[in-house]
Amino acid sequence: MQNHLNHHQQPPSTSSTTRPSTPCILLSATLISLLLILTYTTTSSSPPSLPPPHPSLFPLDSPHRHLFRSSSSTTTTKTTTSLKTDQDPPPPPSPPSIAYLLSGSSNDTGRILRLLLSIYHPKNIYLLHLDSTASQAERDDLALKIQSFPLFKAAQNVNVVGKADVVYQQGSSSISATLHGASILLRISKNWDWFINLSVDDYPLVTQDDLLHILSYLPKDLNFVNHTSYIGWIESRKLKPIIVDPGLYLLEENEVFYATQKRLLPDAFRLFMGSSSAILSRKFIEFCILGIDNLPRTVLMYLANTPSSHSVYFPTILCNSRKFNRTTINHNLQYVSLNSRKEPYLLNSSYYNDLVQSGAAFASRFLPDDPILHRLDQEILHRGPGKPVPGGWCLGDSGLDACKVWGDADVLRPGPGAKRLEKHLLELLSEGALRSQQCVVD
Ligand SMILES: *[C@@H]1O[C@H](CO)[C@@H](O)[C@H](O)[C@H]1NC(C)=O
Ligand SMILES: *[C@@H]1O[C@H](CO)[C@@H](O)[C@H](O)[C@H]1NC(C)=O
Ligand SMILES: *[C@@H]1O[C@H](CO)[C@@H](O)[C@H](O)[C@H]1NC(C)=O
Ligand SMILES: *[C@@H]1O[C@H](CO)[C@@H](O)[C@H](O)[C@H]1NC(C)=O
Ligand SMILES: *[C@@H]1O[C@H](CO)[C@@H](O)[C@H](O)[C@H]1NC(C)=O
Repeated sequence: MQNHLNHHQQPPSTSSTTRPSTPCILLSATLISLLLILTYTTTSSSPPSLPPPHPSLFPLDSPHRHLFRSSSSTTTTKTTTSLKTDQDPPPPPSPPSIAYLLSGSSNDTGRILRLLLSIYHPKNIYLLHLDSTASQAERDDLALKIQSFPLFKAAQNVNVVGKADVVYQQGSSSISATLHGASILLRISKNWDWFINLSVDDYPLVTQDDLLHILSYLPKDLNFVNHTSYIGWIESRKLKPIIVDPGLYLLEENEVFYATQKRLLPDAFRLFMGSSSAILSRKFIEFCILGIDNLPRTVLMYLANTPSSHSVYFPTILCNSRKFNRTTINHNLQYVSLNSRKEPYLLNSSYYNDLVQSGAAFASRFLPDDPILHRLDQEILHRGPGKPVPGGWCLGDSGLDACKVWGDADVLRPGPGAKRLEKHLLELLSEGALRSQQCVVD
């Protein structure tokens, strides 16, 4: 069956890639990846050179086809900074690319695949990470599932971390895992514009065509992350204890332990707390990873012994840096419903209308296979089980199988989700709201 499909969709390739068609090649690699990161990087230190992705998805020289220009060109003109003209609207800017890091734990293979399909677009790049609570067999199984999906193979944009990182949510090993993922993504692709960190508890509320369409009108240096410098009693209870995260130095699973003493809050920089999930610009991720300025490194080392540090790292660096403090928008475009202790409620069908009206791009947290996910698939994403979300790159005609025939990945077909997202963004970007909430020091 699979050979049959490949035969139809992929022209014979003359490249010398060793395609891992047998499980044993996969099992022996420490970093399993569709792109064979390991195979390539052991011989050279430059990013892997790959056979080109499928030509119908990424035509090299065909002029852009703007199939749905008339329906979409009016939706976002307000968010651009361009001058109003009475002439024809200019052609839409070419879509950006998003690098997604998707994380899960043991037994999350099904959820991570579902999340992947719900946010899949050939322009994007994906890195899937099952943390160390999952067995190696689960990671290998996930890599095989990705490998046997003709679409992922053709677009060459889904990767699996083969050697797991340890992640303790209370400790700083979760930052370490996120930065590891971000640095792999920087390395394997020069082309992405934003980084988004999601977990299997999250789900999209708009299609990727909606999101890429709206983002294509925004400056590429914007960062979307909740942040506040207000440290009340709940926050200081989280920030003052000194903890030791065993994930950073012990192989075996162990308890995070707390020192009996507490410490003062820092005054060398200002702490900002926020969301652990964020939409971050490539420039900012490079700033954090390359560490040419010492701020990201200092904050990282300070946070090594701070609980809940994953909700502090990115906001603190953004707001303490002169280079980035004016690029920060105080919302991560994710819907959450928090209780009085600032813990997220589980979202179920009762939240459906709230979710859709929020204009957010993602929502969190959902139980595995909650019926509301099925409703989002049907009514918002128009996605069949086991299928990607149809977008402008899908040229097949039969409803649920539209994405069996591939077209140009630069062609977007934004729908009502783009309107909702645009409305939400216009509120966030309106002059008053933007500046009055940007890195405010309380
Ligand atoms: C994973 O699933 C198996 C069987 O469904 C169950 O026994 C096990 O407890 C689950 N593990 C976790 C961490 O949920
Ligand atoms: C982020 O900020 C928005 C706007 O203030 C709020 O509605 C949302 O609940 C916040 N999200 C988190 C995770 O705190
Ligand atoms: C990345 O996202 C995951 C899942 O939402 C979260 O657990 C983790 O703390 C995040 N890491 C950072 C550094 O924000
Ligand atoms: C950004 O940093 C500069 C220099 O430290 C400061 O003057 C400015 O007020 C900051 N802006 C915001 C929005 O915090
Ligand atoms: C959804 O969860 C809330 C509690 O968070 C509960 O009151 C409500 O009955 C649930 N709705 C459904 C449809 O399960």
